[in-house]
Amino acid sequence: MMVTKNIKMADVVHMNHFCLSILDRFGIELGFGDKTVEETCHDFKVDPDFFLEIINAFIDKDYFPKKQLQSFSVKLITEYLQKTHSYYIEIKVPEIELLIEQMVETCSTQKENMGLLKRFFSEYESELKNHIQREENDVFPYTQMIEKAYYSNNIDKSVIKNMDEYSIDIFEKEHDNIEEKLFDLKNIIIKYLPQPNNKNLCQNLLHELFSLEKDINDHSRIEDTVLVPKIRTMEKEIRKRAGSKS
Ligand SMILES: [Fe+2]
Ligand SMILES: [Fe+2]
Repeated sequence: MMVTKNIKMADVVHMNHFCLSILDRFGIELGFGDKTVEETCHDFKVDPDFFLEIINAFIDKDYFPKKQLQSFSVKLITEYLQKTHSYYIEIKVPEIELLIEQMVETCSTQKENMGLLKRFFSEYESELKNHIQREENDVFPYTQMIEKAYYSNNIDKSVIKNMDEYSIDIFEKEHDNIEEKLFDLKNIIIKYLPQPNNKNLCQNLLHELFSLEKDINDHSRIEDTVLVPKIRTMEKEIRKRAGSKS
């Protein structure tokens, strides 16, 4: 079922409780009573149309309104992506680390395997942090510069120089698949790790890894199929207006 503006926000959470993390990224706090999605968005100063596209794409992986999402500003899209980065680094990664730590502590028989698991995840954590840093330090500022130039009457020479040195094509080429390693980690646990002492911890860990993987898939899809083509179109238009070759 699609989320619409007139549905109660509480029903959205009942429909799919994983939406809670999306609400949090938009700064929407619980306690919205019987208010609709539109009313709640209004209370928290959230663009309801953007919220709806993001939440529907998150709930249903077959629903992905690329064109509608591309119609929102680069600022809105990158702010959402940035909040998602913070959610991974500040909340999800520490939660997973804690579960692994607890598994190491409660495991009396296979310390070595647990140690490997811990190392594997800490390597993943550094990769994820590097990936995010690159986007926040280089890519997002570049996309915001492009948007600013696109809407300004005069194209500054420095914009063209920046575009000559960097382009969204470079980002697209370098944008590595950060979900793949999570899939490998899940597989190690599911296929090869002998059942740890605390089965419950192991299941919680797998649950967290599945949900992080799904979330990152959704996130990367926005970067690759919404942000990249949107910026590419703007770059072309800027070059055209500046009279230089594309
Ligand atoms: Fe990202
Ligand atoms: Fe990314």
